[in-house]
Amino acid sequence: MKHTDISLLFREPEKYIGQEVTVCGWVRTSAEVKPMAFIQLNDGSTSTTNLQLTIHQEKYSPEDFKNNIKPLMILGTALSARGTVCASERNIVELEVDEMTLLGPCPGDYPLQKKKTSLEFLRTIPHLRTRTNTMKTVMMVRSRVAYAIHTYFTEHGYFYVHTPIITNSDCEGAGEMFRITTQPWSTPHKTEKEYYGEDFFGEKAGLSVSCQLEGEMAALGGLGRIYTFGPTFRAEKSDTNRHVAEFWHVEPEVCFVDIHEIIEIGEEFIKYVIRDVLEHCGEQLAFCDRFLEKGLLDKLRHVSESDFAKVDYTEAVEILQKSGRKFEYPVSWGDDLQSEHERFLTEEYFKRPLFVVNYPKEIKSFYMKQNPDGKTVAATDLLVPGIGEIIGCSERETDYDKLVAAMEARHMPLESYRYYLDTRKYGTVQHSGFGLGFDRLVMYITGVSNIRDVLQFPRTYKHIY
Ligand code: 4AD
Ligand code: MG
Repeated sequence: MKHTDISLLFREPEKYIGQEVTVCGWVRTSAEVKPMAFIQLNDGSTSTTNLQLTIHQEKYSPEDFKNNIKPLMILGTALSARGTVCASERNIVELEVDEMTLLGPCPGDYPLQKKKTSLEFLRTIPHLRTRTNTMKTVMMVRSRVAYAIHTYFTEHGYFYVHTPIITNSDCEGAGEMFRITTQPWSTPHKTEKEYYGEDFFGEKAGLSVSCQLEGEMAALGGLGRIYTFGPTFRAEKSDTNRHVAEFWHVEPEVCFVDIHEIIEIGEEFIKYVIRDVLEHCGEQLAFCDRFLEKGLLDKLRHVSESDFAKVDYTEAVEILQKSGRKFEYPVSWGDDLQSEHERFLTEEYFKRPLFVVNYPKEIKSFYMKQNPDGKTVAATDLLVPGIGEIIGCSERETDYDKLVAAMEARHMPLESYRYYLDTRKYGTVQHSGFGLGFDRLVMYITGVSNIRDVLQFPRTYKHIY
Protein backbone atom coordinates (compact mmCIF):
# COMPACT_ATOMS: atom_id res chain seq x y z
CA MET A 1 0.00 0.00 0.00
CA LYS A 2 1.39 3.40 -0.86
CA HIS A 3 1.72 5.18 2.47
CA THR A 4 3.96 7.54 4.41
CA ASP A 5 5.97 6.52 7.49
CA ILE A 6 4.77 8.37 10.56
CA SER A 7 8.38 9.16 11.48
CA LEU A 8 8.75 11.25 8.31
CA LEU A 9 5.88 13.53 9.34
CA PHE A 10 7.65 14.33 12.59
CA ARG A 11 11.10 14.58 11.04
CA GLU A 12 10.13 17.09 8.36
CA PRO A 13 6.81 18.62 9.48
CA GLU A 14 7.18 21.71 7.31
CA LYS A 15 7.33 19.49 4.22
CA TYR A 16 4.10 17.67 5.05
CA ILE A 17 1.86 20.28 6.71
CA GLY A 18 -1.08 20.97 4.38
CA GLN A 19 -0.38 17.84 2.34
CA GLU A 20 -2.64 14.85 1.96
CA VAL A 21 -1.07 11.57 3.06
CA THR A 22 -2.05 8.00 3.85
CA VAL A 23 -0.60 6.45 6.99
CA CYS A 24 -0.90 2.93 8.39
CA GLY A 25 -0.45 1.56 11.87
CA TRP A 26 -1.83 0.06 15.05
CA VAL A 27 -4.12 1.89 17.46
CA ARG A 28 -2.24 2.65 20.68
CA THR A 29 -5.05 4.58 22.41
CA SER A 30 -8.25 6.31 21.40
CA ALA A 31 -10.74 8.70 22.95
CA GLU A 32 -14.11 10.14 22.10
CA VAL A 33 -14.47 13.78 23.13
CA LYS A 34 -17.62 14.93 21.36
CA PRO A 35 -17.78 16.39 18.79
CA MET A 36 -14.36 14.89 18.11
CA ALA A 37 -12.69 11.52 18.33
CA PHE A 38 -8.96 10.86 18.55
CA ILE A 39 -6.77 7.88 17.76
CA GLN A 40 -3.07 7.59 18.60
CA LEU A 41 -1.48 5.57 15.82
CA ASN A 42 1.93 3.90 15.71
CA ASP A 43 3.39 2.18 12.65
CA GLY A 44 6.73 1.04 14.09
CA SER A 45 8.72 3.84 12.46
CA THR A 46 8.85 5.80 15.72
CA SER A 47 9.42 4.40 19.19
CA THR A 48 7.15 6.31 21.54
CA THR A 49 5.81 9.12 19.35
CA ASN A 50 2.34 8.37 18.00
CA LEU A 51 0.47 10.24 15.31
CA GLN A 52 -2.82 11.70 16.47
CA LEU A 53 -5.68 11.09 14.06
CA THR A 54 -8.33 13.74 14.51
CA ILE A 55 -11.86 12.73 13.52
CA HIS A 56 -14.81 15.11 13.29
CA GLN A 57 -17.84 13.13 14.33
CA GLU A 58 -20.26 15.45 12.50
CA LYS A 59 -18.89 14.13 9.22
CA TYR A 60 -20.67 10.85 9.98
CA SER A 61 -24.24 9.93 10.79
CA PRO A 62 -24.51 8.46 14.33
CA GLU A 63 -25.18 5.07 12.74
CA ASP A 64 -22.16 5.34 10.44
CA PHE A 65 -19.90 6.47 13.27
CA LYS A 66 -21.01 3.54 15.44
CA ASN A 67 -20.65 0.90 12.73
CA ASN A 68 -17.62 2.11 10.80
CA ILE A 69 -15.52 4.36 13.00
CA LYS A 70 -15.95 2.94 16.52
CA PRO A 71 -14.56 -0.50 15.54
CA LEU A 72 -11.44 1.26 14.29
CA MET A 73 -10.87 2.85 17.68
CA ILE A 74 -10.30 -0.46 19.46
CA LEU A 75 -6.85 -0.87 20.97
CA GLY A 76 -4.52 -2.97 18.80
CA THR A 77 -6.56 -2.58 15.63
CA ALA A 78 -4.58 -2.11 12.41
CA LEU A 79 -5.86 0.58 10.07
CA SER A 80 -4.92 2.97 7.33
CA ALA A 81 -6.00 6.60 7.33
CA ARG A 82 -6.02 9.22 4.62
CA GLY A 83 -6.19 12.86 5.52
CA THR A 84 -4.43 16.21 5.70
CA VAL A 85 -1.39 16.83 7.87
CA CYS A 86 -1.92 19.78 10.23
CA ALA A 87 0.38 21.68 12.52
CA SER A 88 -0.30 21.09 16.19
CA GLU A 89 1.01 23.02 19.16
CA ARG A 90 0.87 19.97 21.40
CA ASN A 91 1.81 17.20 19.00
CA ILE A 92 3.92 18.97 16.30
CA VAL A 93 1.68 17.40 13.63
CA GLU A 94 -1.69 15.63 13.54
CA LEU A 95 -3.77 14.09 10.78
CA GLU A 96 -7.23 15.50 10.02
CA VAL A 97 -8.88 12.31 8.84
CA ASP A 98 -10.95 12.09 5.65
CA GLU A 99 -11.14 8.34 5.37
CA MET A 100 -10.10 5.30 7.38
CA THR A 101 -9.89 1.64 6.36
CA LEU A 102 -9.75 -1.35 8.64
CA LEU A 103 -6.67 -3.48 7.92
CA GLY A 104 -6.88 -5.98 10.78
CA PRO A 105 -9.45 -6.03 13.58
CA CYS A 106 -8.34 -6.70 17.16
CA PRO A 107 -10.67 -8.65 19.42
CA GLY A 108 -11.27 -7.85 23.09
CA ASP A 109 -8.92 -10.54 24.41
CA TYR A 110 -5.91 -8.50 23.16
CA PRO A 111 -3.45 -8.94 26.04
CA LEU A 112 -2.02 -5.43 25.87
CA GLN A 113 -4.78 -3.38 27.41
CA LYS A 114 -4.25 0.17 28.57
CA LYS A 115 -3.25 -0.69 32.14
CA LYS A 116 0.41 -0.72 33.19
CA THR A 117 2.12 -4.03 32.56
CA SER A 118 5.27 -5.55 34.05
CA LEU A 119 8.29 -6.68 32.06
CA GLU A 120 7.71 -10.17 33.51
CA PHE A 121 4.19 -10.26 32.10
CA LEU A 122 5.41 -8.98 28.75
CA ARG A 123 7.84 -11.90 28.51
CA THR A 124 4.81 -14.19 28.30
CA ILE A 125 3.69 -12.44 25.10
CA PRO A 126 6.95 -12.14 23.13
CA HIS A 127 5.06 -11.85 19.84
CA LEU A 128 3.17 -8.76 21.01
CA ARG A 129 5.48 -7.05 23.46
CA THR A 130 7.30 -5.17 20.71
CA ARG A 131 4.17 -3.01 20.50
CA THR A 132 4.92 -1.50 23.90
CA ASN A 133 6.93 1.68 24.26
CA THR A 134 9.66 -0.01 26.26
CA MET A 135 10.26 -2.98 24.01
CA LYS A 136 9.98 -0.94 20.83
CA THR A 137 12.51 1.55 22.18
CA VAL A 138 14.92 -1.21 23.19
CA MET A 139 14.56 -2.92 19.82
CA MET A 140 15.26 0.34 18.01
CA VAL A 141 18.42 0.90 20.01
CA ARG A 142 19.42 -2.75 19.51
CA SER A 143 19.10 -2.33 15.76
CA ARG A 144 21.18 0.85 15.79
CA VAL A 145 23.89 -0.75 17.96
CA ALA A 146 24.18 -3.55 15.38
CA TYR A 147 24.46 -0.99 12.60
CA ALA A 148 27.12 0.99 14.47
CA ILE A 149 29.15 -2.18 15.01
CA HIS A 150 29.15 -2.97 11.30
CA THR A 151 30.01 0.64 10.52
CA TYR A 152 32.91 0.70 12.96
CA PHE A 153 34.52 -2.41 11.53
CA THR A 154 33.85 -1.46 7.92
CA GLU A 155 35.36 2.00 8.44
CA HIS A 156 38.41 0.45 10.08
CA GLY A 157 39.22 -1.97 7.29
CA TYR A 158 37.87 -5.26 8.68
CA PHE A 159 36.43 -8.06 6.55
CA TYR A 160 33.01 -9.21 7.72
CA VAL A 161 33.31 -13.01 7.51
CA HIS A 162 30.67 -15.69 7.93
CA THR A 163 31.87 -18.64 9.94
CA PRO A 164 29.96 -21.90 10.36
CA ILE A 165 27.37 -22.33 13.07
CA ILE A 166 27.64 -26.11 12.88
CA THR A 167 30.99 -27.19 14.23
CA ASN A 168 32.91 -30.11 15.63
CA SER A 169 35.07 -28.08 18.02
CA ASP A 170 34.14 -26.69 21.40
CA CYS A 171 36.15 -23.47 21.17
CA GLU A 172 35.99 -22.43 24.80
CA GLY A 173 36.49 -26.04 25.88
CA ALA A 174 33.94 -25.61 28.64
CA GLY A 175 31.75 -28.44 27.38
CA GLU A 176 28.76 -26.20 26.84
CA MET A 177 28.12 -27.18 23.25
CA PHE A 178 24.63 -28.12 22.13
CA ARG A 179 24.79 -31.34 20.13
CA ILE A 180 23.05 -31.65 16.80
CA THR A 181 21.95 -34.98 15.48
CA THR A 182 19.63 -36.62 13.00
CA GLN A 183 19.70 -39.99 14.79
CA PRO A 184 16.28 -41.25 15.85
CA TRP A 185 15.71 -40.97 19.59
CA SER A 186 15.48 -44.73 19.97
CA THR A 187 18.88 -45.51 18.40
CA PRO A 188 20.25 -48.53 20.26
CA HIS A 189 23.06 -47.74 22.63
CA LYS A 190 26.48 -48.32 21.10
CA THR A 191 29.95 -47.03 21.69
CA GLU A 192 30.21 -43.26 21.34
CA LYS A 193 32.35 -43.62 18.20
CA GLU A 194 29.84 -45.97 16.55
CA TYR A 195 26.91 -43.80 17.51
CA TYR A 196 28.34 -40.61 16.03
CA GLY A 197 29.79 -42.55 13.11
CA GLU A 198 26.23 -43.25 11.97
CA ASP A 199 25.15 -39.66 12.47
CA PHE A 200 24.78 -37.04 9.74
CA PHE A 201 28.38 -35.85 9.69
CA GLY A 202 29.89 -39.19 10.64
CA GLU A 203 31.22 -37.62 13.80
CA LYS A 204 30.02 -35.60 16.78
CA ALA A 205 28.80 -32.13 15.81
CA GLY A 206 27.20 -29.22 17.60
CA LEU A 207 26.34 -25.54 17.55
CA SER A 208 29.23 -23.11 17.80
CA VAL A 209 29.93 -21.52 21.19
CA SER A 210 32.26 -18.98 19.55
CA CYS A 211 33.45 -18.20 16.03
CA GLN A 212 36.92 -17.39 17.24
CA LEU A 213 38.82 -20.38 15.88
CA GLU A 214 37.39 -19.95 12.39
CA GLY A 215 37.93 -16.20 12.79
CA GLU A 216 41.59 -16.78 13.57
CA MET A 217 41.86 -19.06 10.54
CA ALA A 218 40.34 -16.35 8.33
CA ALA A 219 42.65 -13.64 9.69
CA LEU A 220 45.80 -15.79 9.57
CA GLY A 221 44.56 -17.28 6.31
CA GLY A 222 45.45 -13.97 4.69
CA LEU A 223 42.55 -11.61 5.42
CA GLY A 224 44.49 -9.95 8.23
CA ARG A 225 41.69 -8.18 10.04
CA ILE A 226 38.25 -9.76 10.31
CA TYR A 227 35.13 -9.76 12.45
CA THR A 228 32.17 -12.05 12.84
CA PHE A 229 28.74 -11.07 14.13
CA GLY A 230 26.18 -13.77 14.59
CA PRO A 231 24.44 -16.02 17.06
CA THR A 232 26.39 -18.43 19.23
CA PHE A 233 24.99 -21.08 21.53
CA ARG A 234 25.83 -22.23 25.02
CA ALA A 235 24.19 -24.97 27.01
CA GLU A 236 24.98 -23.21 30.28
CA LYS A 237 22.49 -23.95 33.01
CA SER A 238 22.90 -20.41 34.36
CA ASP A 239 19.53 -18.97 35.15
CA THR A 240 20.72 -15.39 35.62
CA ASN A 241 19.70 -12.03 34.23
CA ARG A 242 22.71 -11.98 31.87
CA HIS A 243 22.82 -15.50 30.39
CA VAL A 244 20.88 -16.84 27.45
CA ALA A 245 21.46 -20.09 25.58
CA GLU A 246 21.50 -18.28 22.23
CA PHE A 247 23.26 -14.94 22.20
CA TRP A 248 24.66 -12.62 19.56
CA HIS A 249 28.41 -12.48 19.51
CA VAL A 250 30.76 -9.97 17.91
CA GLU A 251 34.24 -11.36 17.41
CA PRO A 252 37.07 -9.42 15.75
CA GLU A 253 40.42 -11.06 15.11
CA VAL A 254 43.39 -8.87 14.23
CA CYS A 255 46.82 -9.88 12.94
CA PHE A 256 50.06 -8.16 13.97
CA VAL A 257 48.48 -6.87 17.18
CA ASP A 258 49.36 -7.68 20.81
CA ILE A 259 47.24 -7.67 23.96
CA HIS A 260 47.81 -3.95 24.64
CA GLU A 261 46.74 -2.96 21.14
CA ILE A 262 43.63 -5.15 21.18
CA ILE A 263 42.61 -3.57 24.49
CA GLU A 264 42.92 -0.15 22.85
CA ILE A 265 40.83 -1.38 19.93
CA GLY A 266 38.16 -2.76 22.26
CA GLU A 267 37.91 0.49 24.17
CA GLU A 268 37.81 2.64 21.04
CA PHE A 269 35.19 0.34 19.53
CA ILE A 270 32.84 0.46 22.55
CA LYS A 271 33.14 4.25 22.72
CA TYR A 272 32.47 4.58 19.00
CA VAL A 273 29.28 2.54 19.31
CA ILE A 274 28.06 4.50 22.33
CA ARG A 275 28.73 7.83 20.64
CA ASP A 276 26.87 6.67 17.55
CA VAL A 277 23.83 5.63 19.56
CA LEU A 278 23.91 8.89 21.55
CA GLU A 279 23.89 10.77 18.28
CA HIS A 280 21.17 8.78 16.51
CA CYS A 281 18.90 7.48 19.25
CA GLY A 282 18.54 10.55 21.48
CA GLU A 283 14.79 10.15 21.87
CA GLN A 284 15.04 6.46 22.67
CA LEU A 285 17.85 6.92 25.18
CA ALA A 286 15.94 9.74 26.89
CA PHE A 287 13.05 7.30 27.31
CA CYS A 288 15.41 4.66 28.73
CA ASP A 289 16.90 7.25 31.09
CA ARG A 290 13.42 8.09 32.36
CA PHE A 291 11.97 4.60 32.72
CA LEU A 292 14.80 2.06 32.85
CA GLU A 293 17.93 3.58 34.40
CA LYS A 294 18.03 7.02 35.95
CA GLY A 295 21.17 8.87 34.86
CA LEU A 296 21.71 6.64 31.82
CA LEU A 297 22.49 9.52 29.45
CA ASP A 298 25.08 10.99 31.81
CA LYS A 299 26.63 7.56 32.22
CA LEU A 300 26.90 7.00 28.47
CA ARG A 301 28.27 10.48 27.78
CA HIS A 302 30.83 10.07 30.52
CA VAL A 303 31.87 6.59 29.36
CA SER A 304 32.25 7.72 25.77
CA GLU A 305 34.60 10.52 26.82
CA SER A 306 36.77 9.11 29.61
CA ASP A 307 39.38 6.37 29.87
CA PHE A 308 38.43 2.87 30.95
CA ALA A 309 40.26 1.54 34.00
CA LYS A 310 42.82 -1.27 33.83
CA VAL A 311 43.97 -3.58 36.62
CA ASP A 312 46.11 -6.68 36.77
CA TYR A 313 44.24 -9.80 37.94
CA THR A 314 46.74 -10.22 40.79
CA GLU A 315 46.10 -6.67 42.01
CA ALA A 316 42.34 -7.13 41.58
CA VAL A 317 42.47 -10.14 43.92
CA GLU A 318 44.37 -8.05 46.49
CA ILE A 319 41.80 -5.26 46.22
CA LEU A 320 39.01 -7.76 46.82
CA GLN A 321 40.79 -9.35 49.76
CA LYS A 322 41.50 -5.96 51.38
CA SER A 323 38.02 -4.61 50.69
CA GLY A 324 36.63 -5.79 54.01
CA ARG A 325 33.61 -6.95 52.04
CA LYS A 326 32.02 -10.30 52.93
CA PHE A 327 31.68 -12.11 49.61
CA GLU A 328 29.67 -15.28 49.25
CA TYR A 329 32.75 -16.81 47.63
CA PRO A 330 35.98 -15.57 49.26
CA VAL A 331 38.60 -15.07 46.59
CA SER A 332 42.24 -16.11 46.46
CA TRP A 333 44.85 -16.05 43.68
CA GLY A 334 44.02 -18.66 41.06
CA ASP A 335 40.23 -18.47 41.47
CA ASP A 336 37.98 -17.29 38.70
CA LEU A 337 36.27 -14.04 39.61
CA GLN A 338 32.60 -14.50 40.49
CA SER A 339 30.06 -11.96 39.37
CA GLU A 340 29.93 -10.49 42.91
CA HIS A 341 33.68 -9.79 42.63
CA GLU A 342 33.41 -8.37 39.15
CA ARG A 343 30.61 -6.08 40.18
CA PHE A 344 32.43 -4.85 43.28
CA LEU A 345 35.48 -3.98 41.19
CA THR A 346 33.69 -2.17 38.39
CA GLU A 347 30.78 -0.66 40.32
CA GLU A 348 32.23 0.25 43.68
CA TYR A 349 36.00 0.36 43.40
CA PHE A 350 36.79 1.67 39.92
CA LYS A 351 33.28 2.96 39.18
CA ARG A 352 33.70 2.67 35.40
CA PRO A 353 34.38 0.08 32.72
CA LEU A 354 37.38 -1.96 33.75
CA PHE A 355 39.79 -4.29 31.96
CA VAL A 356 41.11 -7.02 34.27
CA VAL A 357 44.33 -8.26 32.67
CA ASN A 358 46.63 -11.33 32.97
CA TYR A 359 44.49 -14.09 34.44
CA PRO A 360 45.91 -17.37 35.79
CA LYS A 361 46.29 -19.74 32.87
CA GLU A 362 44.44 -22.62 34.59
CA ILE A 363 41.11 -20.80 34.60
CA LYS A 364 41.29 -19.58 31.01
CA SER A 365 41.08 -21.16 27.56
CA PHE A 366 43.78 -23.13 25.77
CA TYR A 367 44.33 -20.60 22.97
CA MET A 368 45.51 -17.70 25.13
CA LYS A 369 49.11 -16.56 24.94
CA GLN A 370 51.13 -17.71 27.89
CA ASN A 371 52.99 -14.93 29.67
CA PRO A 372 56.72 -15.25 30.45
CA ASP A 373 55.89 -15.71 34.18
CA GLY A 374 54.64 -19.23 33.32
CA LYS A 375 51.57 -18.67 35.49
CA THR A 376 49.33 -16.22 33.64
CA VAL A 377 47.99 -15.61 30.15
CA ALA A 378 47.69 -12.39 28.11
CA ALA A 379 43.93 -12.28 28.52
CA THR A 380 41.50 -9.66 29.71
CA ASP A 381 37.82 -9.33 30.51
CA LEU A 382 36.06 -5.99 30.15
CA LEU A 383 33.70 -5.50 33.08
CA VAL A 384 31.04 -2.81 33.20
CA PRO A 385 28.92 -1.54 36.09
CA GLY A 386 25.49 -3.13 36.33
CA ILE A 387 26.34 -6.16 34.24
CA GLY A 388 29.85 -7.48 34.76
CA GLU A 389 31.72 -9.08 31.88
CA ILE A 390 30.82 -7.90 28.39
CA ILE A 391 34.06 -8.71 26.56
CA GLY A 392 36.41 -11.69 26.79
CA CYS A 393 39.70 -10.90 25.03
CA SER A 394 43.19 -12.23 24.56
CA GLU A 395 46.36 -12.31 22.57
CA ARG A 396 46.52 -15.78 21.02
CA GLU A 397 49.22 -18.37 21.58
CA THR A 398 51.20 -18.70 18.36
CA ASP A 399 53.83 -21.18 19.52
CA TYR A 400 52.81 -24.56 18.05
CA ASP A 401 54.31 -26.68 20.83
CA LYS A 402 52.89 -24.58 23.66
CA LEU A 403 49.47 -24.65 22.02
CA VAL A 404 49.52 -28.43 21.60
CA ALA A 405 50.68 -28.86 25.20
CA ALA A 406 47.81 -26.67 26.45
CA MET A 407 45.34 -28.69 24.38
CA GLU A 408 46.71 -32.00 25.56
CA ALA A 409 46.54 -30.85 29.17
CA ARG A 410 42.81 -30.29 28.56
CA HIS A 411 42.36 -33.67 26.83
CA MET A 412 41.24 -32.02 23.60
CA PRO A 413 40.97 -34.16 20.45
CA LEU A 414 43.80 -32.70 18.35
CA GLU A 415 42.45 -34.27 15.15
CA SER A 416 39.36 -31.99 15.27
CA TYR A 417 41.67 -28.96 15.39
CA ARG A 418 44.06 -29.87 12.60
CA TYR A 419 43.33 -26.84 10.40
CA TYR A 420 43.58 -24.55 13.40
CA LEU A 421 46.93 -26.01 14.36
CA ASP A 422 48.14 -25.57 10.79
CA THR A 423 47.75 -21.79 11.20
CA ARG A 424 50.63 -21.97 13.69
CA LYS A 425 52.71 -23.86 11.15
CA TYR A 426 52.44 -21.92 7.91
CA GLY A 427 53.56 -18.34 8.45
CA THR A 428 52.01 -17.70 11.82
CA VAL A 429 51.98 -14.18 13.25
CA GLN A 430 51.14 -12.42 16.46
CA HIS A 431 47.38 -11.82 16.63
CA SER A 432 44.67 -10.96 19.12
CA GLY A 433 40.92 -10.77 19.30
CA PHE A 434 37.91 -10.53 21.52
CA GLY A 435 34.31 -11.59 21.89
CA LEU A 436 31.68 -9.05 22.80
CA GLY A 437 28.32 -10.21 24.14
CA PHE A 438 26.09 -8.09 21.93
CA ASP A 439 22.97 -8.56 24.05
CA ARG A 440 24.87 -7.50 27.16
CA LEU A 441 26.12 -4.37 25.40
CA VAL A 442 22.51 -3.54 24.49
CA MET A 443 21.60 -3.98 28.17
CA TYR A 444 24.38 -1.60 29.16
CA ILE A 445 23.36 1.03 26.61
CA THR A 446 19.61 0.89 27.33
CA GLY A 447 19.71 0.28 31.08
CA VAL A 448 17.64 -2.89 30.72
CA SER A 449 18.47 -5.09 33.70
CA ASN A 450 17.45 -8.50 32.36
CA ILE A 451 18.87 -9.95 29.15
CA ARG A 452 15.44 -11.52 28.45
CA ASP A 453 14.21 -8.01 27.68
CA VAL A 454 16.71 -7.13 24.96
CA LEU A 455 15.84 -10.17 22.80
CA GLN A 456 12.37 -10.68 21.43
CA PHE A 457 12.55 -14.46 21.83
CA PRO A 458 15.11 -15.25 24.54
CA ARG A 459 16.18 -18.87 24.95
CA THR A 460 17.14 -19.78 28.49
CA TYR A 461 17.58 -22.92 30.57
CA LYS A 462 14.30 -24.88 30.53
CA HIS A 463 12.62 -22.16 28.52
CA ILE A 464 12.39 -21.89 24.77
CA TYR A 465 9.29 -19.70 24.52
O1 4AD B 1 34.28 -14.70 27.37
P1 4AD B 1 33.75 -15.55 26.27
O2 4AD B 1 33.42 -16.97 26.60
O3 4AD B 1 34.86 -15.50 25.14
C1 4AD B 1 34.85 -16.21 23.99
O4 4AD B 1 33.94 -16.89 23.57
C2 4AD B 1 36.05 -15.95 23.14
N1 4AD B 1 36.22 -17.07 22.22
C3 4AD B 1 35.86 -14.65 22.42
C4 4AD B 1 36.98 -14.27 21.50
O5 4AD B 1 38.06 -13.98 21.98
N2 4AD B 1 36.74 -14.24 20.22
O6 4AD B 1 32.47 -14.88 25.62
C5 4AD B 1 32.56 -13.57 25.10
C6 4AD B 1 31.41 -12.73 25.59
C7 4AD B 1 31.33 -12.59 27.11
O7 4AD B 1 32.19 -11.60 27.58
C8 4AD B 1 29.86 -12.23 27.31
O8 4AD B 1 29.67 -10.85 27.11
C9 4AD B 1 29.19 -12.98 26.18
O9 4AD B 1 30.16 -13.33 25.24
N3 4AD B 1 28.53 -14.20 26.69
C10 4AD B 1 27.20 -14.33 26.86
N4 4AD B 1 26.18 -13.48 26.67
C11 4AD B 1 24.94 -13.92 26.94
N5 4AD B 1 24.64 -15.15 27.37
C12 4AD B 1 25.64 -16.05 27.58
N6 4AD B 1 25.34 -17.29 27.99
C13 4AD B 1 26.99 -15.66 27.32
N7 4AD B 1 28.18 -16.27 27.40
C14 4AD B 1 29.11 -15.37 27.01
MG1 MG C 1 34.61 -14.89 29.37
